[in-house]
Amino acid sequence: MSRTTAIVLAAGKGTRMKSELPKVLHPCAGAPMLDHVVRAALEAGAEDAVVVVGHGREAVKAHLAARFGDRVRTAVQDEQRGTGHAVQCALPALRPEATTALLLYGDTPLVRAEDLARLLAVRETASVALLTCRVSDPRGYGRIIRDVSDRIVGIREQRDASEAERAIDEVNPGMYAVAVPFLRDALAALTPDNVQGELYLTDIVARAAQTEGVDREASSGGVADCAADANTLVGINDRAQLAAAEDALFHRIADERRRAGCTIRAGARIDVGVEVAPEAIIEHGVVLRGRTRVGPRARIDVGCVLDDVDVAADAYLQPYTVARDARIGARATTGPFAHLRPESQLDEDTKVGNFVEMKKTRLRRGAKASHLSYLGDGDVGEGANIGAGTIFCNYDGVQKHRTTIGSGAFIGSDSQLVAPVTVGAGAYVGTGTTVTKDVPADALAIGRAPQANKEGYARRLRGRMEAAKKAKP
Ligand code: UD1
Ligand code: CA
Repeated sequence: MSRTTAIVLAAGKGTRMKSELPKVLHPCAGAPMLDHVVRAALEAGAEDAVVVVGHGREAVKAHLAARFGDRVRTAVQDEQRGTGHAVQCALPALRPEATTALLLYGDTPLVRAEDLARLLAVRETASVALLTCRVSDPRGYGRIIRDVSDRIVGIREQRDASEAERAIDEVNPGMYAVAVPFLRDALAALTPDNVQGELYLTDIVARAAQTEGVDREASSGGVADCAADANTLVGINDRAQLAAAEDALFHRIADERRRAGCTIRAGARIDVGVEVAPEAIIEHGVVLRGRTRVGPRARIDVGCVLDDVDVAADAYLQPYTVARDARIGARATTGPFAHLRPESQLDEDTKVGNFVEMKKTRLRRGAKASHLSYLGDGDVGEGANIGAGTIFCNYDGVQKHRTTIGSGAFIGSDSQLVAPVTVGAGAYVGTGTTVTKDVPADALAIGRAPQANKEGYARRLRGRMEAAKKAKP
């Protein structure tokens, strides 16, 4: 059994991104490009990874530590002296047990674990294995050079290639699996005798080709290759290419979910890492981000944006529900146009209607707030009803306070609950009441001014106002 460590090159500056952010940290479908590469390598069977960092190293290091912990280490390449030099910089960070190195670039977010797994499998037959692909425009790529019997004899960089070699459309995407002893020897032998004066990693391929058949296990012998879809191997250099890669990734994620039994309309954007259960329906224009999970048969209607939201089975999020860090229970309904801010929790069978904003508030089973409310820092009991226009006045300018509403309570429309305040179970709050004192269970709180009707007053008032208007010069 060979033990594989991935070495991911990510020291380049990424000038064409025109960004303060290091290129490999630019997000693609919800995760930095680099994460997609590292994840594919680990999924393909690498036990750990060494990422070669240079430009923006502090940010890249901090991100990797937070995301992957000690499964991913970094090695520093101070000066970019070529891809071969970059891998040399990673060697001291290899664990002694590593027998195979999987060499990748950090800017190829579409690379698939299954292709890397195939690459690792063919590596068992040779000391160097590489992925190859055919492209309609091979400019910029190293060309795969084969002999008369179709064996790979080397890779020629664009700048070093002859006219005839430049016509070759089989190219090197730059992904290799290499026996570690061979890699050590081959890297030590690299020389910068090429147009760019760099140490070319690609030169290890010619070396392996020349030593075919000699003691594969130990350090030398043979080149194996496998072809892959060029679309999955592209490197990203600018934000236009990044956008195209991201679209491709969204398509891939949606198709995976569709094959697993979800209905995903075109134009929904589901980040990598989001879970969607079978029979869920995701309408067009929906954006699902972060650690969002959507349960079976839940329906997420047009234009919803969910960030780290847990949606249980059979919930129905009507159009333009915007939620972050929230939990939505089974059969709950929201929106259209509901705003669930962090730590909102809707239990089963609850309802949050249009233009309701919630924050740090729980609606217990069957509770409803159907229209136009702000519910902040609250706890609403089972089956309670919050009338239209209710406001939990949670903030006194300095501190936040809690509003607690008992089960079965009824809060009349246009009420303000000035927190901290508690309304007991089964209590009624009359429409338009400003609640400043606790309301006992089953009591009625009513704080509105008594109504007086003045007969004919409106007619007389209108007469006076119209006369005043006429008298104006
Ligand atoms: C390289 C290959 C070429 C291949 C192409 C695919 C070599 C010599 N050539 O060319 O055959 O077709 O990739 O994209 O390997 N990097 C470092 N440190 C360095 C140099 C590069 O970390 O000193 C990183 C870069 O950040 C980048 C990657 O390695 O992510 C590729 O480097 P780049 O100089 O763009 O290689 P190419 O010239 O495109
Ligand atoms: Ca280069």
